[in-house]
Amino acid sequence: MIYNGDCREILKTIETETINCCITSPPYYRLRDYGEDKQIGLENTPEKYIEQLADVFDEIKRVLKADGTLWLNIGDSYAGSGKGGANYPDNAMYYKQGTNTGSLTEKGIRPYRSEVIKPKDMIGIPWMLAFELRRRGWYLRQDIIWSKPNPMPESVKDRCTKSHEYIFLLSKSDHYYFDAEAIAEPVADSTLRRLNQNIDGQNGSFAYGKTNGNMKAVASRYGGKKYTEHKEDFFRTKSGKMYEYRAKRNKRDVWTVSTKAYKGAHFATFPEDLIEPCVLAGCPKAGIIIDPFAGTSTTGVVCKRYGREFIGIEINKEYCTMGIDRMKNIQMKMELR
Ligand SMILES: C[S@@+](CC[C@H](N)C(=O)[O-])C[C@H]1O[C@@H](n2cnc3c(N)ncnc32)[C@H](O)[C@@H]1O
Repeated sequence: MIYNGDCREILKTIETETINCCITSPPYYRLRDYGEDKQIGLENTPEKYIEQLADVFDEIKRVLKADGTLWLNIGDSYAGSGKGGANYPDNAMYYKQGTNTGSLTEKGIRPYRSEVIKPKDMIGIPWMLAFELRRRGWYLRQDIIWSKPNPMPESVKDRCTKSHEYIFLLSKSDHYYFDAEAIAEPVADSTLRRLNQNIDGQNGSFAYGKTNGNMKAVASRYGGKKYTEHKEDFFRTKSGKMYEYRAKRNKRDVWTVSTKAYKGAHFATFPEDLIEPCVLAGCPKAGIIIDPFAGTSTTGVVCKRYGREFIGIEINKEYCTMGIDRMKNIQMKMELR
């Protein structure tokens, strides 16, 4: 389901505590003009912008179930030295989600600056928003780093090229739905080699005139069940106990995902790979996910692949239509997770 309109109005029509999860990327501050009167992102001050977004997320908190989570991708903006944001629809095809340079045209959006925030300063938008949401009652659980191996080239010579953004994980309650197993990742090769050692066949190592006994393969017991007679794969913990061997580990909080250009006119689409773990960990099968800034509905596409319901809200009608077209072409993944 995709609604066309201002999310501040449409969210009010959604019933309280009916949604499992929200995955979204709001318009960045003063970087894009989406060509709509009621769009968020072009406010005069960062404070006003943060207030608008926090009001939206108050409504998201209301519609989320008590065990619901919010996965919030947000990038920063620099107080610029004259370069502006990208205008709609000009330059649309050149921009991907998370790029941080403007169209530089005469009619470009003027960058923010003030007496306190000087040209070239980072504004600090992500943390301003994270702290405001926490102040309004959200649990700020994690700052996941989206690391981009193919960041937008920058001509700067006085700082590093920016190649990351945040995905904040926030929850409505202190206990919430989170399927860590669904996004567990393979253990490192070195760990596998360590666990596969023939411990009993090893001689102890020699150091300072004494051997320190047989080396033991050690591993965290995370997720491993205690060893039983029937299991062949097992490892020994530091204390010498045997546990069933587990080739997965808890997902780390730095996610390396390439940005991808979407062929349509929209210029800030999520890479699907970035959204996949949020969908799998944040929402049970057949649950409902909402994106109040849906754009071309990448969140919806991933929901459809994995059998989750999707509610998207997007102010720009053209993007809504593109979103519907994209979702129509998606086959559900055969293996439902
Ligand atoms: C960063 S983009 C989201 C892109 C999306 N993640 C995707 O993969 O296509 C932000 C979107 O928010 C929309 N938007 C801006 N103000 C809005 C509002 N008040 N209500 C609903 N959508 C809005 C913009 O039109 C834009 O498409």
